[in-house]
Amino acid sequence: MTTRSHPKGSFELSFGDRRLLFHTQAGVFSQDGPDEGTMLLLNAVGPFLKPHMTVLDLGTGVGLVGVSVAGSLARGEVYMVDSDVRAVRLAQENVLLNRIENAHVKLGDITLDLPPRLRFDLVLSNPPTHSGKQVLTNFVDEAHGVLRPGGWLYLVVNRLLSVRDMMAATFGQVEQVERHKGFMVFRAQKPRKAATSDS
Ligand SMILES: C[S@@+](CC[C@H](N)C(=O)[O-])C[C@H]1O[C@@H](n2cnc3c(N)ncnc32)[C@H](O)[C@@H]1O
Repeated sequence: MTTRSHPKGSFELSFGDRRLLFHTQAGVFSQDGPDEGTMLLLNAVGPFLKPHMTVLDLGTGVGLVGVSVAGSLARGEVYMVDSDVRAVRLAQENVLLNRIENAHVKLGDITLDLPPRLRFDLVLSNPPTHSGKQVLTNFVDEAHGVLRPGGWLYLVVNRLLSVRDMMAATFGQVEQVERHKGFMVFRAQKPRKAATSDS
């Protein structure tokens, strides 16, 4: 994976065999090129992607994660959500710019504005860690709520906070899959159907 910045609010990125272009804007994440944590997340999840997956990019910003992943899913779909209207506009622009046809960009509060019965194989997020513990907890809990049994949450954070504990509280087991310069990628699987005690 390689990146190259351009002076006028855009940058390029290679993911898999695709070269992608992203438009950016002041005040939208990430305005100055790809965030190191985001790249670590993409590196971690790349080998795990399967062509048919339904993926949610939670807090998409300019759409870096969603656009990159959508381009490598032959039969799958990606939903990209952000609560910032400027981010959503840019993410939509970047979907079109890269001729991505299997991505849907939504303005919304975490998962609350997604179609109610939609379920995902994979939720990916570089969450807004500056927004406080409650927002992080909501990201983790709502991701769990929209995952299919057996689905995975991959989350990157730039310092420990208590994200691992939050994920453990909601999912049970948590695994650290990548670590670089203070960034950590954690993943957790939503349990498959629980066995019933009376069967
Ligand atoms: C750290 S940025 C990550 C952006 C992008 N995924 C990336 O890695 O380049 C977190 C994003 O979450 C969005 N966000 C914050 N609160 C949110 C909420 N309640 N619902 C959805 N998105 C939210 C922010 O607007 C921001 O774009």
